[in-house]
Amino acid sequence: MTLQGIGVLGGGLMGSGIAEVAIRAGYDVRLLELDDRAVEAGKERILRSLERAVEGEKLSSIQRDEALQRLSYTIEISDLIDRDLIVEAVVEDLEVKRDLFRKLDARCPERTILASNTSSLAITDLAAAVRRSDRVVGLHFFNPVPVMRLVEVVRTMVTSEATLRTAQEFATSLGKEPILAPDSSGFLVNRLLVPFLLDTIRLLEAGVAGVEDLDKSMVLGCGHPMGPLALCDFIGNDTLLRIAEIMFNEYREDRYAPPPCLRRLVAIGRLGRKSGEGFYDYSGEKPVVLGV
Ligand code: 3HC
Repeated sequence: MTLQGIGVLGGGLMGSGIAEVAIRAGYDVRLLELDDRAVEAGKERILRSLERAVEGEKLSSIQRDEALQRLSYTIEISDLIDRDLIVEAVVEDLEVKRDLFRKLDARCPERTILASNTSSLAITDLAAAVRRSDRVVGLHFFNPVPVMRLVEVVRTMVTSEATLRTAQEFATSLGKEPILAPDSSGFLVNRLLVPFLLDTIRLLEAGVAGVEDLDKSMVLGCGHPMGPLALCDFIGNDTLLRIAEIMFNEYREDRYAPPPCLRRLVAIGRLGRKSGEGFYDYSGEKPVVLGV
């Protein structure tokens, strides 16, 4: 199937990134947000990221302007009914996602594929909420979306071959490398990454080492682009907590259990980069380690 019109639900970190790479690849994209304020925030994020690409000479200012012409915003779900593919990237809450999928299922034409960027929920639970279950698929992107090459394409037991192929081709057309991932909570990447991040927090909690040395160990010892605790802050400690809770609920394995320290950080609002504080304080020129 040839895709033209893409819909994106949610203009947060992931949704705005997905919208950006899609307009840069030539798609016509309509982004749905909750209200005008959220639309403005999404717009700002995309503009900033495109500006960065222009400054880094990855995009000319003409290409930026052309890409922006392909992007529109709405707060009405009915404005998405002419879309060929809709990717949801809203809050990690099954009921919120199911509700949106039900509304779209009732209004969109037969051809529309519904995709989810969920990190940890089962795509099957979304497919089960709609009549077009064969046209529901997972498209899991990574943050920052314009930089990370991987997309996990997730097939349920009822996803059609045509849907799967379209999703894979869409990912490739964005310059991404798709891999086929099973519909089990966390797919492939988060099944490896989440226990690793939680283990690092457990080492910190147990007093085995401090934030700086734990991060240094993986950056300098294993060549990771950022240390695991800096990565927790980057993903968002609230997001990580939510993902861990969902994965623990699914597998009931200790490796997915959120450590108390993560809960405390979230409770006190130290969500990471987005709130200005997490394992590090981001208010200055360089991140500074904060006590936990
Ligand atoms: N948008 C666009 N481009 C960006 C960007 C952004 N938000 N952030 C960085 N870049 C580009 C820069 O322009 C630069 O490009 P260049 O090398 O061609 O000039 C390149 O990325 C490197 O950026 P910087 O030099 O500014 O900074 P770093 O070298 O520190 O890299 C980073 C930043 C790319 C974020 C790097 O630290 C990194 O790869 N970190 C790991 C990120 C990661 O693991 N992401 C996955 C998270 S898990 C996830 O998303 C799944 C979810 O389910 C939890």
